[in-house]
Amino acid sequence: MPLPDDFLYELKVRSDITDIASSYVTLKRRGRNLVGLCPFHSEKTPSFNIYPENGSFYCFGCGAGGDVITFIRKIENLDYIDAVKLLAQRAGMEMPESSYDNSLSELRRRIFEANREAGRFYYSTLYTSEGREGLEYLRGRGLSERTIKHFGLGFSPDKRFALVDHLKSKGFKPQELVAANLVYQNKNGGISDRFYNRVMFPIIDLRGNVIAFGGRIMTDQKPKYLNTSDTPVFKKSTNLFALNFAKGGGRSLILCEGYMDVIALHQAGFTSAIATLGTALTREQAMLMKRYADTVYICYDSDEAGQKAAQRAIELLRNAGVDIRVISVPGAKDPDEFIRENGDKGRERFEQLLEKSGNDIEYRIQKIKQKYILTEQSQIVAYLTDCSQLLSELENPIEAEVYAGKLSDETGVSKEAVLRQINGYRKKKVRERTKKQFRDIQTVVSGRDDRVNSEKAANLRAARAEEALIAYIINNPDEAAETVKLLPPEKLVTSFNRRVYGIITERALNGRDIMPADISGEFTVEENGKIAGILASLGGNINSAAARDDCIRVILAESEKITAESAASADINDIEKYLEKLKQQKK
Ligand code: UTP
Ligand code: MN
Repeated sequence: MPLPDDFLYELKVRSDITDIASSYVTLKRRGRNLVGLCPFHSEKTPSFNIYPENGSFYCFGCGAGGDVITFIRKIENLDYIDAVKLLAQRAGMEMPESSYDNSLSELRRRIFEANREAGRFYYSTLYTSEGREGLEYLRGRGLSERTIKHFGLGFSPDKRFALVDHLKSKGFKPQELVAANLVYQNKNGGISDRFYNRVMFPIIDLRGNVIAFGGRIMTDQKPKYLNTSDTPVFKKSTNLFALNFAKGGGRSLILCEGYMDVIALHQAGFTSAIATLGTALTREQAMLMKRYADTVYICYDSDEAGQKAAQRAIELLRNAGVDIRVISVPGAKDPDEFIRENGDKGRERFEQLLEKSGNDIEYRIQKIKQKYILTEQSQIVAYLTDCSQLLSELENPIEAEVYAGKLSDETGVSKEAVLRQINGYRKKKVRERTKKQFRDIQTVVSGRDDRVNSEKAANLRAARAEEALIAYIINNPDEAAETVKLLPPEKLVTSFNRRVYGIITERALNGRDIMPADISGEFTVEENGKIAGILASLGGNINSAAARDDCIRVILAESEKITAESAASADINDIEKYLEKLKQQKK
């Protein structure tokens, strides 16, 4: 059910893209537009643009783009209706009734409800005889009643249908529970509890919805933790455990590996602790952290796997542009154990670790150093080479200079020589980056990489003219009637552009708005990105009727060519048929 135009109009007026984007991205004014570092990919120079004039955004680096609704869809990972709801809420507007019967949105709502009810069930089980073992386990791990309640921890009874029965009695349908991944579907079509005999950790998103669960077995059996698989409301790679609690603190976060580490740290007063959900850190999670933090303390397990994972996390977080500090917990396997082993002094000692934590460059130099024996001449050279490569990544030359000084003191090689090597690597990197940028632009221009309009590469001339014309109509809706007369939609060569052109001209003829926010409901996130890209790169280029007529001429000519070509191939077919007929007649 499409949303009514007047509702969308008001939503658009009340949801200024500049206001909304600036709560996620730091923007600087550049001429009529605003620019900033793109929240959808990692970059060091800003290519993310906001165009207040038509209410759109576009990133020249990754091609993300669209209107304010598309922005919210992408950044909050929501479907169209839920993004609209979020904006409506922010703007203090009621959603129109009819829009609720969106089936995906309805299923998502039911999954949220089922999860919340499951969370309540697991929590209340802790305080029954069936859950006593779970409660004792959690207490045994040093958790207070308050902590258990705060995190909503719980217990899944050692039965196959405990949750199924409970949720069915609350009116949930089997297919909703399957979609929530709270139950397994058996071969015979029945359902049974996915989690049993485990202590339960609910995973809560930034709006307070229960989106998933982790369940820990209380013995040494495997798997230790069972987690909700991805569902329509949950993607492990884009969420972080406890970010709902941690985001409101200062602009720093402590990144750990385990649920228990996070909970122990929160209990000890470090409420900015968060963790990934049983997978290695992803780029999306790094970008998400960047939204809430300027500094991230990485506090992974001290075993080899933990240290490897830390290296990877450093790489991703550095690309996301946060300051990184690395904490290693001495004499303990992980932060939870560290806090527990230090008893009353746990809090104080962890505080000291935070204070004296090294930044990631120091940490990485330490790691490199472990590979070499620095009393041997040849190994010193290799050591300096590795370090120079690392330091050439530093944006700030003063920082590089400081480390060059330290390396010089340590190895006896002059600081100038170290700096020369660093600069050599830096120049090489810049050359490579420039080459890559050039290649990227070439691919965009040639349409080879155009995922939305796959016919562009083969019909470059037509597609470019079509795009220019689309930009022209969006900027000059009054010209739509005239333009359609000269060029009816079916004449467009590439089908994506034909569809866009068809939609915007028809809307314009009916007096409806065609700015990005008005039409975004008709397109997918990627398609909206493509349209925003067309506007961003061609928006102001053609603004006269003469330029428009040139585009039309090109499109008509290209379209003729194609008709002629297919006529030619049809002719060949006809000739073959004719010859075939002749043969038949001769026989
Ligand atoms: P850990 O084994 O380090 O977790 O795994 P932990 O929190 O310290 O567990 P305790 O202290 O033994 O209870 C780190 C994280 O990896 C995921 C979980 O998210 C866990 O918190 N994990 C681990 C799984 O998803 N499945 C597993 O089988 C093990
Ligand atoms: Mn642990």
